[in-house]
Amino acid sequence: MKTHFNGFRCFACGAEQGADYAGYVCPQCGGNLEVRYDWPRHAPGRWWLEPARRDIFRYQALLPVSRLELASPLRVGQTPLYDAPRLSAATGLKHLLLKDDGQNPSASFKDRAGAVALVRAREIGAQVLCGASTGNAGSSMACLAASVGMPCVIFVPEKAPAAKIAQLLVFGAKVFAVRGTYDDAFDLCMEVCRQRGWFNRNTGHNPFTREGKKTAAIELYEQLGRMPDWVVVPTGDGNIIAGIWKGFQDLKEAGIVARTPKMLCAQSEASQAISAAVWALQQTGQTKPDWAKVQVAAVQATTVADSISVDIPRDGLAAVRAVVESGGAAVAVPDAEILAAIPELARSAGVFAEPAAACAWAGLKKAARDGLVQPDETVVCMLTGNGLKDVASARKVAGEPVALDNNINAALAATENI
Ligand SMILES: Cc1ncc(COP(=O)(O)O)c(C=O)c1O
Ligand SMILES: [Zn+2]
Repeated sequence: MKTHFNGFRCFACGAEQGADYAGYVCPQCGGNLEVRYDWPRHAPGRWWLEPARRDIFRYQALLPVSRLELASPLRVGQTPLYDAPRLSAATGLKHLLLKDDGQNPSASFKDRAGAVALVRAREIGAQVLCGASTGNAGSSMACLAASVGMPCVIFVPEKAPAAKIAQLLVFGAKVFAVRGTYDDAFDLCMEVCRQRGWFNRNTGHNPFTREGKKTAAIELYEQLGRMPDWVVVPTGDGNIIAGIWKGFQDLKEAGIVARTPKMLCAQSEASQAISAAVWALQQTGQTKPDWAKVQVAAVQATTVADSISVDIPRDGLAAVRAVVESGGAAVAVPDAEILAAIPELARSAGVFAEPAAACAWAGLKKAARDGLVQPDETVVCMLTGNGLKDVASARKVAGEPVALDNNINAALAATENI
């Protein structure tokens, strides 16, 4: 199928490039690029849907790739959207839904980005896939690369959780555990890609990752049959929230929907660079600032939620734009509330989320408490990663098993009041 992709536009200065532009960022100012389309004018009904496909390429007409024979055979996307009545009762919200993206092939939302990036890389003849990652983007790339037999090189901070490093190694990626932070790994990876000419999948820097992530918005719309009022997104670099917002915007620009939801950026107080930039704009009442002048200042991130622990957000400006332009909000919560959200989600809805994903629920509770989200609004929480990714954090709040002697009398006595 033909793609309607027709070029790029800079998030900061607005400069445009054609679809044949081979760089990753704006040649004028170095800003991140947004993928642009020329949507069909008088296309028939559901032209944007390929009903026979059961993965993200169901929406290929809205994506910037056309050679789907180059896609991974793994099923990415089409993740479940659950009603969560017991959780919504706890917050006084009438309608809360959970989108369980931990059910993707490598157990995180990142597979959406990786799946589109993989097709793009193969379309332009790349030989090696490379990226820096706090864990999930890398394990996703490694998984998808393995599924088509492509070499993959990943730079991670040495402190990435063991399960994520195990995933990378199991999938056969060449893994470099950088003695430093995610930001150090990112910078090193950028330079290696530049000097070696490898396909650089880095978040924010590569405009195609946002396009993969936008499929969650289209999927939500198709599953719900209408637009929710809010979508809550756990945020670190800002690429997921920017990508989901791009999906809603594209649906509107293409004439498929009339209204778009508000984006709620959920962060840890110990990694809140994007939220701080949103609050600064809101305090001065700026809804249409000169984006080229908006700065997202770096922080010293220390959160336990490793996937959203980010000093310098790599898609910060696009994320701030997503929140402001959608009429949304940003909230930050303490790490203790993020950890407490893990058993709450698991016990009230049966979904085991890693700390970063649980931040969506912790952030929504705060937004409801603060009156940002109204009780009659429909809210979707994006649960972006599976809890088995970080068992150590879950164990901190899950309690302990009851030690039991191996005899029936002890077992009956211990189970009497259950
Ligand atoms: C599970 C999970 N949730 C949320 C995020 C945040 O996404 P972003 O860094 O694009 O804001 C990530 C990114 O690594 C993630 O892996
Ligand atoms: Zn620019």
